[in-house]
Amino acid sequence: MTLTNNERRVLDALAEGDGDTDAEALARTTGLGRGPVEGAVELLAEKGYVNVDETAETLYKLTDEGRGYADDGLPERRLHDYLVENDDVTTDELRDVEGFEIGIGHLRRKGWAEMGATVEPNEASRGDDEEALEALASGENVDGVPETLVDRGLVEREEERTVNVRITDEGRESAEGDDRGTVGALTHDLLASGDWKDADLAEYNVEADAETTHGGREHILRQMANRVKEVMTDMGFQEMEGPHVDAEFYINDHLFMPQDHPARTHWDKFLVEEPQRIDELPDEAVENIRNVHREGAEGGDGYHSEWDRDVARTLNLRGHTTSLSMRYLAEGVEPPARYFSVDKVYRNDTLDPTHLLEFFQIEGWVMARDLSVRDLMGTFVEFYSHFGIEDIEFKPHYNPYTEPSFEIFGEHPETGEQIEIGNSGMFRREVVEPHGIDDDVEVMAWGLALERLLMLIYGFEDIRDVHGTLCDLELLREVPVLWN
Ligand code: PHE
Repeated sequence: MTLTNNERRVLDALAEGDGDTDAEALARTTGLGRGPVEGAVELLAEKGYVNVDETAETLYKLTDEGRGYADDGLPERRLHDYLVENDDVTTDELRDVEGFEIGIGHLRRKGWAEMGATVEPNEASRGDDEEALEALASGENVDGVPETLVDRGLVEREEERTVNVRITDEGRESAEGDDRGTVGALTHDLLASGDWKDADLAEYNVEADAETTHGGREHILRQMANRVKEVMTDMGFQEMEGPHVDAEFYINDHLFMPQDHPARTHWDKFLVEEPQRIDELPDEAVENIRNVHREGAEGGDGYHSEWDRDVARTLNLRGHTTSLSMRYLAEGVEPPARYFSVDKVYRNDTLDPTHLLEFFQIEGWVMARDLSVRDLMGTFVEFYSHFGIEDIEFKPHYNPYTEPSFEIFGEHPETGEQIEIGNSGMFRREVVEPHGIDDDVEVMAWGLALERLLMLIYGFEDIRDVHGTLCDLELLREVPVLWN
């Protein structure tokens, strides 16, 4: 049987010794590392040349801090000694004893003193922790080291794994036998000396498992974003672009969100420290928006509340990309028009399996005459069908800026739950009128979550599987490429 060089070295070392040792010792005698030795041992075991058994032992070691206390006593012991040696010690006086900050809590927890106007010592017998510290310091390995020492960072626990290796009769035969001298790799020396001509070359095992290598690949979220862009452009939409940091004017005020709306309070948004406000807002647009907030538009009579231009100038990280839709509408678009974006938004949410502080939104809107809710629903049915999702559902919803409004739901392929995948509606007159859009022109609009679309397709349940430091590398490596 052909052995690799490492197997040969390990087997020889075993045969030359007493045949019964462990991986650590073999690493030393062969000069190979512990890893290569364990690898070779595993291969030798498969061939029946060695028997292996593994044991694990817990070892405790003093940290530097622990060693210091083993010499000088635990800080609470020092405090206690001080209390015994001195009368009527006040807390302030005790504060000057070295180790006070660390020791005082433990002193109290152990009941070694009564805290009053003065600190009075109680009986304080020697604890298990002190015994263990001393034993460890004198080099004994102690069983059952109190957990508190580990928690306090005075002792470190280490698992020591011992791999015991014993050569078998077959192993001995092989070590002494004549299938020696197989060459696992052609070296420079073999070539230069010409010895390669006589060498017995090891056979390749073409059936052996090869190591898996992972090349770089496009992240599935990026793949999906690109696919969405393709689908949207195929459906006749043009892409919007715009700032991630924007004035509330475009993020909120254009959307008929009253300035005292709960979603506009500071804990719901990410403010910008420098600069805090945008320099300019167009005067005419400001007047139109102020007017609609105060007096309303056709079909509604506004909030009649204060509307402050400085609040509108405040810069935020956008909480939705509807700010882009507003910027484009403000440019003066003629119907029919279709726009979309696939871009990042930022929300001060609590992190959980479905919420992150940033995610991607698929924003879109259509402006045309005679649009109805059926066009809106039909657009989603078509959009999602491009991704093989045929069973979306709608739920009536409320947004300050759309009427009617709908949330869109899809079935999670693993849990069977209906998960929210988007929000949509027909823009109210209060949103479109400031842009001078004709009465018979409707704008339908939406924001869909890219990550939720991804969940429906790939079946993962936690958004953190694809975003950030907790991401599931196996998922990211192994999901098939669906589009390219
Ligand atoms: N801005 C909404 C959100 O972030 C989505 C939306 C956009 C809803 C446009 C209706 C119209 O949830």
